[in-house]
Amino acid sequence: MRKLWTAVSVGLFVIGAGALALTIYLWFGNWPTEQKELVDHLRSVAQNTARPPEPLVQNSRGRERVSLDGRWQAVIDPYDRGTLAGLAPRAVEPKTPSDLAEFSFENGLTLAVPGDWNTQDPRLVFYQGVVWYKTTFDRQGMSGERVFLHFGAANYRASVYLNGLLLGEHEGGFTPFNFDVTGALKAGENLLVVRVDNRRAADDIPTPTTDWHNYGGLTREVSLLGVSTAYVRSWQIGLESEPGAAGSVIAGWIETVGFEAGDEGVLSIPELGIEQGFAVDPAGRARIRVPANPQRWSPESPRLYDVEIRAGKDSVSDRIGFRTVAVQGEEILLNGEPIFLRGISLHEERPSDGGRIYSQAQAETLLGWAKELDANFVRLAHYPHDEFMPQVADRLGLLVWEEIPVYWAVDFESEKTLTRARRQMSELIERDRNRASVILWSLANETPEGPARNAFLQNLADLVRQEDPTRLVTAALLTGADALQGFLLGGYLPAVAGFPVSKWVFDVRDPLAEIVDVPALNEYFGWYYSGGLALMLPWSSHHMRRVMLDGMAEIEIRTPEGKPLIVSELGAGAKFGMHAPAEDLVAYSEEYQALVYEKQLAMLANQPQLRGLSPWVLKDFRAPLRLYQGVQDYWNRKGLISEKGERKEAFFVLRDHYARGWPETVTP
Ligand code: GCU
Repeated sequence: MRKLWTAVSVGLFVIGAGALALTIYLWFGNWPTEQKELVDHLRSVAQNTARPPEPLVQNSRGRERVSLDGRWQAVIDPYDRGTLAGLAPRAVEPKTPSDLAEFSFENGLTLAVPGDWNTQDPRLVFYQGVVWYKTTFDRQGMSGERVFLHFGAANYRASVYLNGLLLGEHEGGFTPFNFDVTGALKAGENLLVVRVDNRRAADDIPTPTTDWHNYGGLTREVSLLGVSTAYVRSWQIGLESEPGAAGSVIAGWIETVGFEAGDEGVLSIPELGIEQGFAVDPAGRARIRVPANPQRWSPESPRLYDVEIRAGKDSVSDRIGFRTVAVQGEEILLNGEPIFLRGISLHEERPSDGGRIYSQAQAETLLGWAKELDANFVRLAHYPHDEFMPQVADRLGLLVWEEIPVYWAVDFESEKTLTRARRQMSELIERDRNRASVILWSLANETPEGPARNAFLQNLADLVRQEDPTRLVTAALLTGADALQGFLLGGYLPAVAGFPVSKWVFDVRDPLAEIVDVPALNEYFGWYYSGGLALMLPWSSHHMRRVMLDGMAEIEIRTPEGKPLIVSELGAGAKFGMHAPAEDLVAYSEEYQALVYEKQLAMLANQPQLRGLSPWVLKDFRAPLRLYQGVQDYWNRKGLISEKGERKEAFFVLRDHYARGWPETVTP
């Protein structure tokens, strides 16, 4: 018996030692290339799964870069099989006719990058799942000592493989990210494969259900950025001028990587005669404060200045406008003067055929339409739009509201969800912190009131005020149950029943209004409130709408005292070309939409705290929730412009009001 035990334990020891030797050999051994590549791939997956990208190198468009845009090979992978044995990440192709092949990038789909996949292939219109992208490139011509692989955005989750190795992953479909690939690049041809998954879970930001199309893919540009070993990573400069203070100063900070404490650099603004030296501290940061009196940026005069930061061998440039924005009681002050935000909300969809924008020209068309409305403000809903949008707004002179997609009922209890929201907000601020046009950071849209939600949004507000104290915090509030109840039972419904009612009070008592600097309200008098209720009550839709339209001027919106109010959404649906006499109150007719605008604008002109407006919405947009066939056909039809660029009657109602200087001079 003893002999048997000795034999068994010796045997086990030999097997164990053998297994250990094999593992060590496998880990460090030099297997035939094919197997070695697989082992290296699996090791990188083990090491880098969920590894986040490096801190963003700001202002990628102001740097030396090589574009990787173009047509990429792609494989639609509904069951997410491509990761098996690293087939897709390593772009394994059959080598001999006898090889068993179950995956190939060849002879198949190609997709344009940047671009959403939904508008590029009929199989992908409503597709939610994984698509593999592949391209190859040579780093020739990229002189940077350090090289970053930069993505403008990828919706929703992106796993990035370079030469078969996983670099890391990024979550969030609308913000930029980059990986330092200096050490991973090969001389000659490099293989870049990206797995993009646009599926979202309940604890993601946003959740799976939104009133916009879940465009998937490498929706924004991909490029290689070249910087010096020591470089300027991030910076923010802006105007500081205390009301009544004599002069003003250009102030801010610069964050560098790879410099020693005391290393110097220069902030240069030639048109202002500024050549301001700075020295970095041990953390690589420097503060800037230089007296200056630039022409103030404003919608009327969107003056931009060339700015350059040089440090060591590195330099980065940008065009920046200088302005101040603040709230003072119920006023929003731009450059110290009260301003009214005559705005419009819009989604980031191409002017012509839907789909995500991918060019500056498309941004210019969309924002040009807002200018045509005589707007001085745009709400970029409900997620960070392409960087082109705030850059073009800087040039055209449009004030901008930017938002992260904390939309409807996200999982406010979840730490993971909060981390995701915080990351998206930080990435957005990091990208656009030098855009003069951007004056409002929005935390959320139409989130149901509750303690977890309030704490979640307070946390986000604190983050924003910490990362960028120079702008205002807002959020789009939904009509709380109590406000709606008060309004319905105290005003509207008695009127529907024929009782004379003087004031229809809409009392918004949402704690979020205390958390933000500028509370904003989404309201749909004339559309959901009357139309929706008619489906449940014994009165006809026509009667319910009639009473609402006739009584709308009675509405008094009450939000917390001493704060300016923005009405961030109002509107009605209309299908371009659908006409009916206005008095017939035909839903989706252009006449009815125009009538709702007339009544809304008359009512809102009486709201004492109102300091801004961004009606819903500039253009019809794709929305899978919109199932009214023959009218909506998966488009939200509340646009003032159709998906083909046709202007509806309400477009001219709003334009004429804005052109007349509404709400200052409201003609009865
Ligand atoms: C909501 C929401 C929008 C939506 C709009 C609508 O207020 O914020 O995302 O598209 O209403 O119903 O049309």
